[in-house]
Amino acid sequence: MNMYEIITKKKLGKALTKEEIDYFVSGVTDGSIPDYQAAALLMAICMRGMNDEETFLITDAMTHSGEMLDLSVIEGIKVDKHSTGGVGDKTTLVLAPMLACCGLKVAKMSGRGLGHTGGTIDKLESIPGFTTTLSDEDFIKTVREHGLTVVGQTADLAPADKKLYALRDVTATIDNISLITSSIMSKKLACGADAIVLDVKTGSGAFMKEPGDAIALGKKMVDIGKRAGKKVGCVISDMNQPLGTHVGNAIEVNEAVETLRGRGSAELRELCLVLGSVLLVMSGTAPDRQEAVSMLSEALDSGRALDKFMEFVRAQGGDASVFDNDALLATAPLSRDVCAPCGGYVKRISCSEVGMASLLTGAGREKKEDVLDPAAGLIVARKVGDPVSAGEKIATVYASDEDRLERAAEKLLEAYEFSSEPAEPLKLIHEIIM
Ligand code: URA
Repeated sequence: MNMYEIITKKKLGKALTKEEIDYFVSGVTDGSIPDYQAAALLMAICMRGMNDEETFLITDAMTHSGEMLDLSVIEGIKVDKHSTGGVGDKTTLVLAPMLACCGLKVAKMSGRGLGHTGGTIDKLESIPGFTTTLSDEDFIKTVREHGLTVVGQTADLAPADKKLYALRDVTATIDNISLITSSIMSKKLACGADAIVLDVKTGSGAFMKEPGDAIALGKKMVDIGKRAGKKVGCVISDMNQPLGTHVGNAIEVNEAVETLRGRGSAELRELCLVLGSVLLVMSGTAPDRQEAVSMLSEALDSGRALDKFMEFVRAQGGDASVFDNDALLATAPLSRDVCAPCGGYVKRISCSEVGMASLLTGAGREKKEDVLDPAAGLIVARKVGDPVSAGEKIATVYASDEDRLERAAEKLLEAYEFSSEPAEPLKLIHEIIM
């Protein structure tokens, strides 16, 4: 067996065997297959596709390409959640404490921001003292003692994905459902949770622009996860505008804390209730989604989820006193309002441009090595369907210097489209797959 034959076989549209897929994944992981051959096979996969069996096999090989976390020493049902990436997506910060209050054990590894999308780890690190790096022992101890932990993904888990993702990123081979499935599910399966809920975003701020493609991806990931012996469900949620109103790092933590205090975004609350209810039902904690929603609502409305969030912050070294007496994390020293150039209705918002505007404030990275400004970001005051009058504030940008403020405000205004005709508000949940 050699890579030349494997590439040729896929180029001709033939299905690869387990041996061939294992050969490819282990060769990529140990570096014995050169990048040009790996990239050629990735392109052949994009052009010819993989069937369900091949998708399962490549996911399985990638899952086992490195360390596998063993969470069996933690009592109870271990759960995990994954989002395919969005703008203003601070769901984990609200959902994880809600789930812990309902008795589930949240053992979560998260990522950093990528392109115009934000990352949970960057958001958490905006809390003074908060550490996102724990040893495997401390990871397990924290889940056992507090019911939840969120840390950065370690390089030892699914290392094949790290290499393949970097290659896909520069060879136009990201957008293949089998490759995306294997990339996401290998990382999730290596983390060892019993039940996983996937939040697949669709719309202008997501990499799956069309709901139909997002549903196909969701179904594929659920099937692969179930075949690997896990309980997996998926929610297809809208990303045609930011989730909630706040986009950035500390700014998003503020919105999450406000939501835990019962005063934040109704949309964020709704998404947390839907994602959480899928996990509660799959794990057998609630008999149906209705009962699950009332358990989760009680956790929020009683203030227990807020207390659990503060406990979680302290457990990972964060200074929870910054939130004392209804306080929030600091925002940037400079701010500027963005105003509607005409009256009418917000017809459309380019969500990826909102993400780019946030990046321009300093809240995201233009290059991998860029250092984030934790306090920078933006708050949108008007969303799709809202009426606006000429000159009215539609958003505010926050940054540490005038140049960033100016560029971000310009970009944010470009993201908005207005019409004189009323526009329908967007629906948040497109589909639930269980
Ligand atoms: N996110 C991932 O982790 N992998 C993909 O392939 C796409 C999005």
